[in-house]
Amino acid sequence: MQGPSTRATATCRRDGYLAIEDQTMSTTFTLDTSTSRANPMPAPMRRLTVPAIRQRKGGEPLVMLTAYTARTAQLLDPHCDMLLVGDSLAQVIYGLPSTIPVTVDMMCAHGAAVVRGSYHSLVVIDLPFGSYEASPVQAFETSARIMKETGAAAVKLEGGAVMAETIRFLTARGIPVIGHIGLTPQAVNTLGGYGVRGRSKAEADKIVADAKAIDEAGAIAIVVEGVVEPIAIAVTEAVACPTIGIGASAHCDGQVLVTEDMLGMFDRVPRFVKRYHEIGEEIAQAAANYAADVRSRAFPTPEQTYQPKD
Ligand code: KIV
Repeated sequence: MQGPSTRATATCRRDGYLAIEDQTMSTTFTLDTSTSRANPMPAPMRRLTVPAIRQRKGGEPLVMLTAYTARTAQLLDPHCDMLLVGDSLAQVIYGLPSTIPVTVDMMCAHGAAVVRGSYHSLVVIDLPFGSYEASPVQAFETSARIMKETGAAAVKLEGGAVMAETIRFLTARGIPVIGHIGLTPQAVNTLGGYGVRGRSKAEADKIVADAKAIDEAGAIAIVVEGVVEPIAIAVTEAVACPTIGIGASAHCDGQVLVTEDMLGMFDRVPRFVKRYHEIGEEIAQAAANYAADVRSRAFPTPEQTYQPKD
Protein backbone atom coordinates (compact mmCIF):
# COMPACT_ATOMS: atom_id res chain seq x y z
CA MET A 1 0.00 0.00 0.00
CA GLN A 2 1.22 3.45 -0.87
CA GLY A 3 0.65 6.70 0.96
CA PRO A 4 0.63 7.41 4.69
CA SER A 5 -0.51 4.26 6.40
CA THR A 6 0.00 4.80 10.10
CA ARG A 7 -3.65 5.75 10.69
CA ALA A 8 -5.34 3.85 7.89
CA THR A 9 -8.32 1.52 8.16
CA ALA A 10 -9.12 -1.13 5.56
CA THR A 11 -12.49 -2.56 4.59
CA CYS A 12 -13.15 -5.29 2.05
CA ARG A 13 -15.55 -4.05 -0.67
CA ARG A 14 -18.16 -6.20 -2.38
CA ASP A 15 -16.26 -6.00 -5.68
CA GLY A 16 -13.30 -7.71 -4.03
CA TYR A 17 -11.13 -4.60 -3.80
CA LEU A 18 -9.78 -3.45 -0.49
CA ALA A 19 -10.79 0.16 0.38
CA ILE A 20 -8.34 1.88 2.65
CA GLU A 21 -9.38 5.07 4.43
CA ASP A 22 -6.35 7.08 5.35
CA GLN A 23 -7.32 9.26 8.30
CA THR A 24 -4.09 11.22 8.17
CA MET A 25 -4.79 12.82 4.81
CA SER A 26 -8.47 11.86 4.22
CA THR A 27 -7.58 9.96 1.06
CA THR A 28 -9.16 6.66 0.11
CA PHE A 29 -7.09 4.04 -1.67
CA THR A 30 -8.34 0.96 -3.45
CA LEU A 31 -5.86 -1.85 -3.32
CA ASP A 32 -6.01 -4.15 -6.32
CA THR A 33 -4.94 -7.35 -4.59
CA SER A 34 -4.00 -9.05 -7.88
CA THR A 35 -1.35 -6.41 -8.66
CA SER A 36 -0.80 -4.94 -5.16
CA ARG A 37 -1.38 -1.54 -6.78
CA ALA A 38 -2.93 1.14 -4.55
CA ASN A 39 -5.14 3.57 -6.44
CA PRO A 40 -6.05 6.81 -4.67
CA MET A 41 -9.72 7.86 -4.94
CA PRO A 42 -10.78 10.22 -6.27
CA ALA A 43 -7.98 9.88 -8.82
CA PRO A 44 -5.55 12.72 -8.11
CA MET A 45 -4.29 15.12 -10.75
CA ARG A 46 -1.19 13.79 -12.44
CA ARG A 47 1.98 15.19 -10.92
CA LEU A 48 3.98 17.50 -13.16
CA THR A 49 7.06 15.84 -14.57
CA VAL A 50 10.56 17.14 -15.08
CA PRO A 51 10.18 17.27 -18.91
CA ALA A 52 6.91 19.21 -18.48
CA ILE A 53 8.72 21.75 -16.31
CA ARG A 54 11.57 22.09 -18.82
CA GLN A 55 9.10 22.63 -21.66
CA ARG A 56 7.84 25.78 -19.93
CA LYS A 57 11.01 27.68 -20.94
CA GLY A 58 9.83 30.96 -22.46
CA GLY A 59 6.17 29.98 -21.96
CA GLU A 60 3.67 30.40 -19.15
CA PRO A 61 5.68 31.36 -16.04
CA LEU A 62 6.37 28.58 -13.55
CA VAL A 63 4.87 29.02 -10.08
CA MET A 64 6.93 27.75 -7.17
CA LEU A 65 6.46 28.22 -3.41
CA THR A 66 8.18 26.71 -0.43
CA ALA A 67 6.37 24.15 1.73
CA TYR A 68 7.59 22.29 4.79
CA THR A 69 4.45 20.58 6.11
CA ALA A 70 1.74 18.32 4.68
CA ARG A 71 -1.13 20.70 5.38
CA THR A 72 0.60 23.70 3.82
CA ALA A 73 1.47 21.53 0.82
CA GLN A 74 -2.23 20.57 0.46
CA LEU A 75 -3.26 24.20 0.43
CA LEU A 76 -0.59 25.37 -2.03
CA ASP A 77 -0.52 22.36 -4.34
CA PRO A 78 -3.44 23.19 -6.66
CA HIS A 79 -1.96 26.63 -7.37
CA CYS A 80 1.67 25.70 -7.94
CA ASP A 81 3.79 23.91 -10.52
CA MET A 82 6.54 23.12 -8.03
CA LEU A 83 6.77 22.95 -4.25
CA LEU A 84 10.22 23.56 -2.82
CA VAL A 85 11.14 22.01 0.50
CA GLY A 86 13.76 24.70 1.00
CA ASP A 87 16.51 24.65 3.58
CA SER A 88 15.01 28.02 4.54
CA LEU A 89 13.05 25.83 6.97
CA ALA A 90 16.09 26.54 9.17
CA GLN A 91 14.85 30.06 9.88
CA VAL A 92 11.13 29.63 9.15
CA ILE A 93 10.43 26.46 11.15
CA TYR A 94 13.37 26.01 13.49
CA GLY A 95 14.35 29.60 14.36
CA LEU A 96 17.96 28.96 13.35
CA PRO A 97 20.16 31.91 12.34
CA SER A 98 21.09 30.48 8.90
CA THR A 99 20.67 27.40 6.70
CA ILE A 100 24.09 26.04 7.69
CA PRO A 101 22.87 23.74 10.56
CA VAL A 102 20.18 21.99 8.46
CA THR A 103 20.57 18.19 8.32
CA VAL A 104 19.57 15.55 5.78
CA ASP A 105 17.26 14.03 8.43
CA MET A 106 15.36 17.33 8.65
CA MET A 107 15.00 17.54 4.86
CA CYS A 108 13.80 13.92 4.68
CA ALA A 109 11.15 14.39 7.37
CA HIS A 110 9.74 17.61 5.91
CA GLY A 111 10.15 16.41 2.31
CA ALA A 112 8.11 13.25 2.97
CA ALA A 113 5.36 15.35 4.60
CA VAL A 114 5.17 17.65 1.57
CA VAL A 115 5.03 14.75 -0.88
CA ARG A 116 2.20 13.21 1.20
CA GLY A 117 0.32 16.49 1.10
CA SER A 118 0.57 17.09 -2.64
CA TYR A 119 -0.65 15.40 -5.80
CA HIS A 120 0.00 17.86 -8.59
CA SER A 121 3.18 19.86 -8.06
CA LEU A 122 6.68 18.57 -8.68
CA VAL A 123 8.30 18.42 -5.26
CA VAL A 124 11.93 19.61 -5.08
CA ILE A 125 14.08 19.17 -1.99
CA ASP A 126 17.14 21.23 -1.07
CA LEU A 127 20.38 19.38 -0.43
CA PRO A 128 21.55 20.85 2.88
CA PHE A 129 24.98 22.42 3.44
CA GLY A 130 27.74 19.83 3.85
CA SER A 131 25.75 16.98 2.30
CA TYR A 132 26.88 17.29 -1.34
CA GLU A 133 29.81 19.64 -1.92
CA ALA A 134 32.65 17.21 -1.19
CA SER A 135 32.20 15.07 -4.31
CA PRO A 136 29.68 13.92 -6.92
CA VAL A 137 29.50 10.59 -5.10
CA GLN A 138 28.59 12.29 -1.83
CA ALA A 139 25.92 14.29 -3.69
CA PHE A 140 24.56 11.11 -5.29
CA GLU A 141 24.32 9.28 -1.98
CA THR A 142 22.53 12.19 -0.28
CA SER A 143 20.15 12.76 -3.21
CA ALA A 144 19.32 9.06 -3.54
CA ARG A 145 18.52 8.84 0.18
CA ILE A 146 16.32 11.94 0.00
CA MET A 147 14.46 10.69 -3.08
CA LYS A 148 13.94 7.20 -1.60
CA GLU A 149 12.75 8.46 1.79
CA THR A 150 10.50 11.25 0.52
CA GLY A 151 9.26 10.30 -2.93
CA ALA A 152 10.32 13.70 -4.29
CA ALA A 153 11.27 13.90 -7.95
CA ALA A 154 14.16 16.38 -7.86
CA VAL A 155 16.77 18.00 -5.65
CA LYS A 156 18.18 21.53 -5.60
CA LEU A 157 21.75 22.49 -4.83
CA GLU A 158 23.60 25.78 -4.60
CA GLY A 159 26.62 26.76 -6.67
CA GLY A 160 27.68 27.59 -10.22
CA ALA A 161 30.51 26.22 -12.39
CA VAL A 162 32.06 24.50 -9.39
CA MET A 163 28.97 22.24 -9.13
CA ALA A 164 28.70 21.50 -12.87
CA GLU A 165 30.52 18.16 -12.62
CA THR A 166 28.21 17.10 -9.76
CA ILE A 167 25.07 18.10 -11.68
CA ARG A 168 26.29 16.12 -14.71
CA PHE A 169 27.02 13.10 -12.50
CA LEU A 170 23.60 13.19 -10.80
CA THR A 171 21.67 13.81 -14.02
CA ALA A 172 23.35 10.88 -15.76
CA ARG A 173 22.30 8.67 -12.83
CA GLY A 174 18.60 9.56 -12.77
CA ILE A 175 18.58 12.46 -10.35
CA PRO A 176 17.01 15.67 -11.71
CA VAL A 177 18.78 18.73 -10.31
CA ILE A 178 17.72 22.36 -9.99
CA GLY A 179 20.68 24.75 -9.69
CA HIS A 180 20.77 27.88 -7.52
CA ILE A 181 23.04 30.82 -8.34
CA GLY A 182 23.52 34.51 -7.48
CA LEU A 183 22.88 34.95 -3.77
CA THR A 184 23.46 31.47 -2.39
CA PRO A 185 22.53 31.51 1.32
CA GLN A 186 24.62 28.45 2.20
CA ALA A 187 27.68 30.53 1.25
CA VAL A 188 26.78 33.29 3.72
CA ASN A 189 30.11 32.91 5.51
CA THR A 190 32.17 33.43 2.34
CA LEU A 191 29.83 36.06 0.84
CA GLY A 192 29.78 37.97 4.15
CA GLY A 193 25.99 38.44 4.18
CA TYR A 194 22.82 38.30 2.13
CA GLY A 195 23.42 41.35 -0.09
CA VAL A 196 22.41 41.59 -3.76
CA ARG A 197 24.94 39.99 -6.13
CA GLY A 198 26.25 41.08 -9.51
CA ARG A 199 26.79 44.81 -9.03
CA SER A 200 30.33 44.68 -10.46
CA LYS A 201 31.04 43.60 -14.05
CA ALA A 202 33.30 40.78 -12.88
CA GLU A 203 30.63 39.41 -10.59
CA ALA A 204 27.94 39.79 -13.27
CA ASP A 205 30.08 37.92 -15.82
CA LYS A 206 30.72 35.15 -13.30
CA ILE A 207 27.01 34.68 -12.56
CA VAL A 208 26.21 34.35 -16.28
CA ALA A 209 29.12 31.92 -16.75
CA ASP A 210 27.91 29.92 -13.72
CA ALA A 211 24.43 29.69 -15.22
CA LYS A 212 25.77 28.48 -18.58
CA ALA A 213 27.98 25.87 -16.91
CA ILE A 214 25.18 24.26 -14.88
CA ASP A 215 22.72 24.52 -17.77
CA GLU A 216 25.14 22.62 -20.01
CA ALA A 217 25.65 20.09 -17.20
CA GLY A 218 21.94 19.23 -17.34
CA ALA A 219 20.22 21.34 -14.67
CA ILE A 220 16.46 21.08 -15.19
CA ALA A 221 15.97 24.67 -14.02
CA ILE A 222 18.00 27.35 -12.26
CA VAL A 223 16.94 29.44 -9.27
CA VAL A 224 18.40 32.93 -9.70
CA GLU A 225 18.39 34.68 -6.33
CA GLY A 226 19.18 38.23 -5.26
CA VAL A 227 20.79 39.65 -8.40
CA VAL A 228 20.41 42.98 -10.17
CA GLU A 229 17.71 42.67 -12.81
CA PRO A 230 19.85 42.89 -15.99
CA ILE A 231 21.78 39.82 -14.84
CA ALA A 232 18.59 37.83 -14.29
CA ILE A 233 17.53 38.76 -17.83
CA ALA A 234 20.97 37.91 -19.28
CA VAL A 235 20.96 34.53 -17.52
CA THR A 236 17.42 33.76 -18.71
CA GLU A 237 18.45 34.52 -22.30
CA ALA A 238 21.70 32.57 -22.02
CA VAL A 239 20.38 29.22 -20.81
CA ALA A 240 18.16 26.54 -22.36
CA CYS A 241 16.48 25.57 -19.09
CA PRO A 242 13.88 27.68 -17.26
CA THR A 243 15.08 30.24 -14.74
CA ILE A 244 13.14 30.77 -11.51
CA GLY A 245 13.62 34.19 -9.99
CA ILE A 246 13.60 35.33 -6.38
CA GLY A 247 14.71 38.91 -6.01
CA ALA A 248 15.58 38.74 -9.70
CA SER A 249 13.19 39.78 -12.51
CA ALA A 250 9.67 39.25 -13.88
CA HIS A 251 11.46 38.20 -17.10
CA CYS A 252 12.59 34.96 -15.49
CA ASP A 253 10.73 31.83 -16.62
CA GLY A 254 9.12 31.50 -13.20
CA GLN A 255 9.13 32.84 -9.65
CA VAL A 256 9.62 31.38 -6.18
CA LEU A 257 8.98 32.88 -2.76
CA VAL A 258 9.18 31.60 0.78
CA THR A 259 5.50 31.02 1.56
CA GLU A 260 5.63 32.45 5.09
CA ASP A 261 7.24 35.63 3.70
CA MET A 262 4.49 36.21 1.16
CA LEU A 263 1.81 35.36 3.75
CA GLY A 264 3.09 38.09 6.08
CA MET A 265 4.18 35.72 8.86
CA PHE A 266 7.22 37.83 9.75
CA ASP A 267 7.50 41.50 10.72
CA ARG A 268 10.33 42.23 8.31
CA VAL A 269 10.97 40.71 4.92
CA PRO A 270 13.39 41.57 2.10
CA ARG A 271 12.33 44.19 -0.43
CA PHE A 272 11.77 41.60 -3.18
CA VAL A 273 8.94 39.94 -1.21
CA LYS A 274 5.37 40.96 -1.98
CA ARG A 275 3.11 40.35 1.01
CA TYR A 276 -0.16 38.77 -0.11
CA HIS A 277 -1.60 38.54 3.40
CA GLU A 278 -0.94 39.52 7.03
CA ILE A 279 -1.30 36.09 8.55
CA GLY A 280 1.10 36.86 11.42
CA GLU A 281 -1.25 39.57 12.70
CA GLU A 282 -4.24 37.26 12.29
CA ILE A 283 -2.58 34.47 14.29
CA ALA A 284 -1.59 36.88 17.08
CA GLN A 285 -5.15 38.27 17.17
CA ALA A 286 -6.67 34.78 17.29
CA ALA A 287 -4.35 33.84 20.18
CA ALA A 288 -5.31 37.04 22.03
CA ASN A 289 -9.04 36.29 21.55
CA TYR A 290 -8.55 32.73 22.79
CA ALA A 291 -6.57 33.88 25.84
CA ALA A 292 -9.29 36.42 26.73
CA ASP A 293 -11.99 33.73 26.38
CA VAL A 294 -10.09 31.27 28.59
CA ARG A 295 -9.44 33.87 31.27
CA SER A 296 -13.06 35.03 31.32
CA ARG A 297 -14.37 31.43 31.14
CA ALA A 298 -16.16 32.27 27.88
CA PHE A 299 -14.50 29.18 26.39
CA PRO A 300 -15.48 26.36 26.30
CA THR A 301 -19.23 26.83 25.91
CA PRO A 302 -21.82 23.99 26.04
CA GLU A 303 -21.22 23.61 22.30
CA GLN A 304 -17.66 22.52 22.94
CA THR A 305 -18.28 20.28 25.97
CA TYR A 306 -19.54 16.70 26.29
CA GLN A 307 -22.44 15.87 28.61
CA PRO A 308 -23.33 12.40 29.89
CA LYS A 309 -26.12 10.65 27.97
CA ASP A 310 -29.25 10.15 30.15
O1 KIV B 1 15.58 27.49 0.82
C1 KIV B 1 14.78 28.14 0.11
O2 KIV B 1 13.65 28.42 0.49
C2 KIV B 1 15.26 28.57 -1.19
C3 KIV B 1 14.43 29.56 -1.93
C4 KIV B 1 14.52 30.87 -1.26
C5 KIV B 1 14.77 29.63 -3.37
O3 KIV B 1 16.27 28.13 -1.63
